[in-house]
Amino acid sequence: MSAIISINNVAKTYATGFEALKHVNLEIQRGEILALLGPNGAGKTTLINIICGIVKASAGNVVIDGHDNVTAWRAARSLVGLVPQELTTDAFETVWATVSFSRGVFGYSPNPQHIEKTLKALSLWNKKDNKIMTLSGGMKRRVLIAKALSHEPRILFLDEPTAGVDVELRRDMWKLVRGLQETGVTIILTTHYIDEAEEMADRIGVINRGELILVEEKAELMRKLGRKQLTLHLQEKLDSAPAALAGYQLELADSGNDLVYSYDAHTDRNSIATLLHDLAASGIKFKDLQTTQRSLEDIFVSLVKERA
Ligand SMILES: Nc1ncnc2c1ncn2[C@@H]1O[C@H](COP(=O)(O)OP(=O)(O)O)[C@@H](O)[C@H]1O
Ligand SMILES: [Mg+2]
Repeated sequence: MSAIISINNVAKTYATGFEALKHVNLEIQRGEILALLGPNGAGKTTLINIICGIVKASAGNVVIDGHDNVTAWRAARSLVGLVPQELTTDAFETVWATVSFSRGVFGYSPNPQHIEKTLKALSLWNKKDNKIMTLSGGMKRRVLIAKALSHEPRILFLDEPTAGVDVELRRDMWKLVRGLQETGVTIILTTHYIDEAEEMADRIGVINRGELILVEEKAELMRKLGRKQLTLHLQEKLDSAPAALAGYQLELADSGNDLVYSYDAHTDRNSIATLLHDLAASGIKFKDLQTTQRSLEDIFVSLVKERA
């Protein structure tokens, strides 16, 4: 795969003096789904807005399919669709008008068939004559997606597309994203849901305090970071972890009332079954159990620590 977007030494200091991005370098591969993961305030929206030409970088440059996004902004911009994080829509227009108009803004001639197909894919067809102001939040977000797709962009940016949206929209959106990838569209999304990045992305970039701290194939990242914990609430408390189960490196918690097992959800697939079997053989009984995944927050903490 070759790069469709090159981000070279991009930095951003806002007028307030706040340094939101520090020399970001990133090559986005043609046809991939790249997820940018990071906590609130990390700089995800700033980076996406710089690539899309909405925010001006303080340093560095972005090249989109051979076009510098400042000196050749028109060509660069026409390749890109952006679904922004904030809901911003023209309240008094109809769905059909606003989506059709969006296409025109990019200098493309009208293509009612494409608009129809897009609205149908987003379950907006029966709302096409409704004014935007009459739509629910979820429907407005669907309109933003339709607008971003109105000019058949080769690259689609989705900024926190599923934060606060209903399950149905989330499902529709991922179906759409997969369909677009099959037609060769490159997709970049930001999220702070690790499960979402895990489900959708080919590669994951982690961004924290304005720095891109790593970019990695998803499988590799999840292998490194995807540790889970199984907590067994025991019927009778233990003074020490049972010697017979030393191989599992169990830890006691809650004054010996809980037995905690840390495992890698991707490589230790059968280990829970064998652990439960071995527990039963040792006569250890539990009344309840629960599994937890390390939160993204935990992962960041350990990532940042690893780099210190
Ligand atoms: N227009 C602006 N002026 C000053 N600071 C800003 C502006 N936009 C964003 N910031 C700050 O830059 C940081 C990164 O913001 P943003 O890119 O929106 O992060 P994210 O999308 O990862 O949540 C935040 O601390 C935010 O407050
Ligand atoms: Mg954001």
